[in-house]
Amino acid sequence: MTESAAVLMHGGRVVAAAEEERFSRIKHDGGFPYEAVRWTLESQGITLADVDHVAVYWNPYNVVGRGLHIMQTLLCSPKLFSEKLLRATKVWRGTAGEDSGWMSIFRTRHKLEQRFGDRPKSIRFFDHHTCHMASCFYASNFHESAILVMDGAGEAACTTWGRGEGTALRKLDEHLLPHSLGHFYSAVTGYIGFKMLDGEYKLMGLSPYGDPSGAAWIRKNLLRTVGRGKYTLDPLVLDYHRALRGHFAGEFVNYFGSPREPDEIAGFNDQYRDVAASAQRAFEEVVLDMAAELQCRTGLSRLAIAGGCGLNCTVNGKILGSGIFEEIYVPPVPHDAGGALGAAMLLYTEITGRRPEPITQAQFGPEFSNEQIADILSRMTDVFAERVSEHNLIARAAESLARGEVIGWVQGPMEYGPRALGNRSFLADPRSDSIRDVINEKIKKREPFRPFAPSVKAEKASEYFDIRQPSPFMTIIVPVRPEKRDVIPAIVHVDGTARPQTVERSVNPQYWKLLDRFESLTGVPVLLNTSFNIQEPIVCTPEEALATFVRSGVDALALGNYWVTHRPTSHN
Ligand SMILES: [Fe+2]
Repeated sequence: MTESAAVLMHGGRVVAAAEEERFSRIKHDGGFPYEAVRWTLESQGITLADVDHVAVYWNPYNVVGRGLHIMQTLLCSPKLFSEKLLRATKVWRGTAGEDSGWMSIFRTRHKLEQRFGDRPKSIRFFDHHTCHMASCFYASNFHESAILVMDGAGEAACTTWGRGEGTALRKLDEHLLPHSLGHFYSAVTGYIGFKMLDGEYKLMGLSPYGDPSGAAWIRKNLLRTVGRGKYTLDPLVLDYHRALRGHFAGEFVNYFGSPREPDEIAGFNDQYRDVAASAQRAFEEVVLDMAAELQCRTGLSRLAIAGGCGLNCTVNGKILGSGIFEEIYVPPVPHDAGGALGAAMLLYTEITGRRPEPITQAQFGPEFSNEQIADILSRMTDVFAERVSEHNLIARAAESLARGEVIGWVQGPMEYGPRALGNRSFLADPRSDSIRDVINEKIKKREPFRPFAPSVKAEKASEYFDIRQPSPFMTIIVPVRPEKRDVIPAIVHVDGTARPQTVERSVNPQYWKLLDRFESLTGVPVLLNTSFNIQEPIVCTPEEALATFVRSGVDALALGNYWVTHRPTSHN
């Protein structure tokens, strides 16, 4: 399992939420979320004994469907059967110690008691896709909407169609294993040489550079349409579990050629760009088919999306751009870390008969006072730090950015979810195309084809982007207006799109003020915003922010009310 997290809810409101990886510092950590649970309790000054109910976003009792799928494999490919059985055993027992497998979920009560000294009063296990459904529908402000969940797999379901109305969630249809869009996308990610269950966003970023004409072959042989909105995936053509082990064979390789070596540094030739483009196109076709059918079946104008495939911001943008639905909502945590949110919301609704409060911001994580920051800074010898008012901090940051400098911006509570939304961010001026190279050199050291995303004042978003609705969590890719592409070239992808974060003054006033100040200096209410990390999970604490700042080449760091710069070394 991947991306575990903990959410604490009180009175229908999320009061604390964070992913385990931010504490363990292991990217996509799927182990038991001990540290996330510890922090959520500490943040509210309570113990486990004060918690009335515990909800878990997996139901380990509901694994019959997965067993059936494995038995079906025996009928068509004994070799594949043995591999699936091996994989199932690993998933059941866990591959990263006793805390990582499905078996460990049965021991949730014992584990909590052992670690926190209190026995939970009650524990409920919820179906994984029902949790995803809740995490997007209840978190939205839609009274009524269609729901589309797509991921690798829950207990057995890979894609779920649903409908939400008020407090009611209803499943309309399912695609069960092995028909997984997440597995398809991950297997192609591995084929292109990216790390599976990590590099899927790289495949998405690479796809606009290639020729998607191979999509027709994929749709005919691997990912077939078999009815209105229905599809099948053939694991004999490309198998996810074999791909996880680095094995690629069969028709997919015969058609597209040999896979790219994971550590190949020679870059990408047209073959891999074209495979990326073709896979993305085939994926989009299937998802758009489903969206159309779902709209037809429900007759509704809004759609809530969750599951790991909900991080495919390109397809989210295509759904919105298609006009099939007038409005979509994707939570800040569509992936498995959002399962915790969904489970908490489901249980709250079940107990109270009421809907929880919608999620309009993602800042639910740890935050640190200026006094705590001062204490840490007092022990630092390689930085200068000056405490300034918020007004001066914003003014300095905006001026620095307008001069073409890159800065760190670490303010308030850490974001819940994979996106830095202005609380744990590196920021830069999007008006200069060359700033991308500067950032890659100073901090990111990442593939040059990957785009950077913008933050924009919400009220100015439609001037710069072809978007008709808010996009507060950077989950939708949309066209940049043609007349603005030369104004903010650093955040425009090769196909003329971008993944904007629309910033409401009421949601993040400090970050909005920074955008506003930058606009008053430059005429542009947009900043390049990339996550504050260097080959690690996004920083959480001031210590981590300072350590990453010191080893980066960025010019300054706004850390709480402190303006921090590098102390020159004697040889400078
Ligand atoms: Fe999931």
